[in-house]
Amino acid sequence: MITLLNGASRMEKVTQSTPVAVVAIDEDPKTLDSVSQALSDSAINLHLIGDLATALELIQKYRPRIVLLGSKVSSDGNRILQQLMERDPGMDVVLMTESYSAEVAIDTIQNGACDCIPKPFSADRLRELVNNLVNATLARRRTLELDRELMEAFRFEGMVGRSPLMLDLYGKIARVARHFRTVLITGPTGSGKELVARAIHARSPVHDHAFVAVNCAAIAESLAESQLFGHLRGAFTGANHDQAGIFEYANGGTVFLDEIGDMALGMQAKLLRVIQNQEITRIGSPAVRKVDVRVVAATNRDLRGLMKKHLFREDLYYRLATVHFKLPTLAERKEDLPILQREFVERASAHCGKHIRGITRRAQTELNRYSWPGNVRELESVLNHACMMADAEFVDVGDLPDYLLECVRGEASADTLLSLDEMSRQYARRVVSQLSGNKLKAAEVLGISRATLYRLLSSTKHEVDSSFTVPDSIGPATPDSLPTLP
Ligand SMILES: Nc1ncnc2c1ncn2[C@@H]1O[C@H](COP(=O)(O)OP(=O)(O)OP(=O)(O)O)[C@@H](O)[C@H]1O
Ligand SMILES: [Mg+2]
Repeated sequence: MITLLNGASRMEKVTQSTPVAVVAIDEDPKTLDSVSQALSDSAINLHLIGDLATALELIQKYRPRIVLLGSKVSSDGNRILQQLMERDPGMDVVLMTESYSAEVAIDTIQNGACDCIPKPFSADRLRELVNNLVNATLARRRTLELDRELMEAFRFEGMVGRSPLMLDLYGKIARVARHFRTVLITGPTGSGKELVARAIHARSPVHDHAFVAVNCAAIAESLAESQLFGHLRGAFTGANHDQAGIFEYANGGTVFLDEIGDMALGMQAKLLRVIQNQEITRIGSPAVRKVDVRVVAATNRDLRGLMKKHLFREDLYYRLATVHFKLPTLAERKEDLPILQREFVERASAHCGKHIRGITRRAQTELNRYSWPGNVRELESVLNHACMMADAEFVDVGDLPDYLLECVRGEASADTLLSLDEMSRQYARRVVSQLSGNKLKAAEVLGISRATLYRLLSSTKHEVDSSFTVPDSIGPATPDSLPTLP
């Protein structure tokens, strides 16, 4: 189907069977004619735009996945190409140019185009090229749909993750939550201990009773007993009225003792007694009160190490660790990165009222290379920052915090043993970037020909791109059809 696009139409919902929209832009009506003849038998929605000035606006509005960008003057084409890439790096753009040469082609591809063909072109060549791009687009659509369905399967009580470690964790929580009395959760900072504690409670038979969280590290030792078990009026200076403690408030539900590794030894003994007997006594009261409380304790400290130093009671440890969840670091489950990134970008973009649709491939590469010492919390805060900074629809490398980029680049140069070839590629890239993209000057500085420089740069791009496991971008699906005009 062929239309001449004037912008006055509506967006259609893209389904698997929606024909892929292809837009051809050229000021020369003869080229548009050749395109439409070459593609007349292809199962696509072909749209022809004759006016370069309005092309950008229309493409921005309707977001086709494939653009055939023709221009009489190649520099003009490159300028528009760059603007397209800034707005939507996932778009497949083919430059059709009269001033074709190997160098122009490589330059164009470096600037983000997926191919470059000389004008006039053979109908067969164009048809083959477009058919290949259409098949790749359909494959991406299927992946996105599957991803969306899987996304639901990979959520569990506020947690997101698809790695075997996380799926195993979900299964264990579901099985244990029905029966537990005490649970211990250990894991590094930011790995999701509190989320797991809440999930256990949410899946337990007492989920409609209280879940009371208390940070043991934040309570002064002298006040801990009163906070946990309560006191009577006059029990100590400042006790002006009777006060129930957290265990009484949580009666029938769950107490979450966060940072249990920081609890003082004296309190640990009292806590153990309460857990064992399910009885509390308020300070200053002889009365024993029965409670029915489940306890989830968490820490990022090494409790076994603390036990060896006699800073944590063994009997309390074994009581708590009847069920023990050990949470992995994010670095141990890097396969969760794409799904977590998608989740956090969606959340952050909704939060800051922007329409951020994903992360560019090169930014994903940097995120993949980082070691995430602050685990999921750090990833969440990095993406919050990036979404706030982003002024385009895709988070790009420049939106990531400097410290992360410095760290990734520092680690890469310090730790990685590179082949001489790879070293040359990286160095060439650095020189070009230091010379603000002036490749002629860069070739001079490096003492190599321009052709060698182009070869180095193009193989760098290929290697970076092929390391991705996700399609073009992550984030909400990109509509890939143009509206059909009446
Ligand atoms: N699997 C996950 N899916 C989605 N968000 C997660 C996941 N794990 C952690 N988070 C998010 O990361 C942040 C830190 O999680 P949480 O507070 O549970 O970590 P923690 O292990 O208790 O950290 P700390 O040891 O510093 O107290 C929270 O904002 C949480 O929502
Ligand atoms: Mg915590």
